[in-house]
Amino acid sequence: MNKTILVTGGAGYIGSHTCKALAARGYTPVTLDNLSNGHEWAVKWGPLVKGDTGDRALLDDVFARYRPSGVIHFAAFIEVGVSVREPGSFYRNNACSTLNVLEAMRAHGCERFVFSSTAAVYGTPRQVPITEDHPQWPINPYGWSKFMVERMLEDFGRAHGTRFCALRYFNAAGADPEGEIGEAHDPESHLIPLVLRAAKDPARSISIFGTDYDTPDGTCVRDYIHVCDLADAHIRALQFLEDHGPAAVNLGTGAGNSVKEIIDAARAVTGLPIEPVIGPRRPGDPARLVADRALAGELLGWTPQHLDIRETIAHAWAWMNR
Ligand code: UFG
Repeated sequence: MNKTILVTGGAGYIGSHTCKALAARGYTPVTLDNLSNGHEWAVKWGPLVKGDTGDRALLDDVFARYRPSGVIHFAAFIEVGVSVREPGSFYRNNACSTLNVLEAMRAHGCERFVFSSTAAVYGTPRQVPITEDHPQWPINPYGWSKFMVERMLEDFGRAHGTRFCALRYFNAAGADPEGEIGEAHDPESHLIPLVLRAAKDPARSISIFGTDYDTPDGTCVRDYIHVCDLADAHIRALQFLEDHGPAAVNLGTGAGNSVKEIIDAARAVTGLPIEPVIGPRRPGDPARLVADRALAGELLGWTPQHLDIRETIAHAWAWMNR
């Protein structure tokens, strides 16, 4: 099987770490990215095609030119709050554009598709840790847009033999330990980079969104998974799809950290005082989101290697201070 892989959104945070991991294993990642959120500097391990997955003519050109044997599809909007205010843009970019990619794959005989899904497909969990057979009922348009793609994949699989693996990420965190790439969202909304920014610049405060949750210290618990472990799972998913599929698996550590624990760990890593402000709950935040990761171990042979949250935060801190 040829080792050229089309990576949509390869200039983004998880996409660029996956391109690095692909190259290290002998693949050639071809990034297709409109650079709306991604960065040209993050594309270092293969060609960059600047453009949009909504552009079918461009997709046809890319498939004809590079003949990829698989697609890893990251390109999407990710801000939950924005999805509530601008649902149409999420359905267009996350669902309709993915349909475009699937149709282009079909037209060009490309059968392997690794999809960037999310724990948001589960909505508010009924039980934690969350297994893949947990009911799916998203609570925002972002989650629904990813849910819709998972449904499309089932149908494409049945009708056209598309082989897919949907990877449901919990909270991506950390950065490349070699410091070549890292997280750079604008605006930033994720907890760990915001806490580290507040450490670096005391003029920027960090708010804790709610301290009255039913958790040991009252703050929300999330499953922070190192971005390099996520990258590794994508390559395993591609390999799995050489002779298996379909599958949908959770990618998390199986352990959770509260917001207060993250702030404590960031204090330890940076050696700096961080004084959070206590704020109200953010609408739509479940108290606990933690993955059951057994299925990813069974199907993909995947075991996360970075299980120490301080190490993960230290990688993010080193990237911020590069
Ligand atoms: N939080 C704060 N203060 C902040 C920012 C976040 O207290 O300034 C809290 C949030 O309330 C939450 C935790 O920190 O409890 C993590 O929040 P993030 O915004 O970093 O991440 P989320 O858990 O909200 O979202 C992540 C991904 C989404 C995905 C979701 C699915 O960013 O794309 O997980 O589980 F949909």
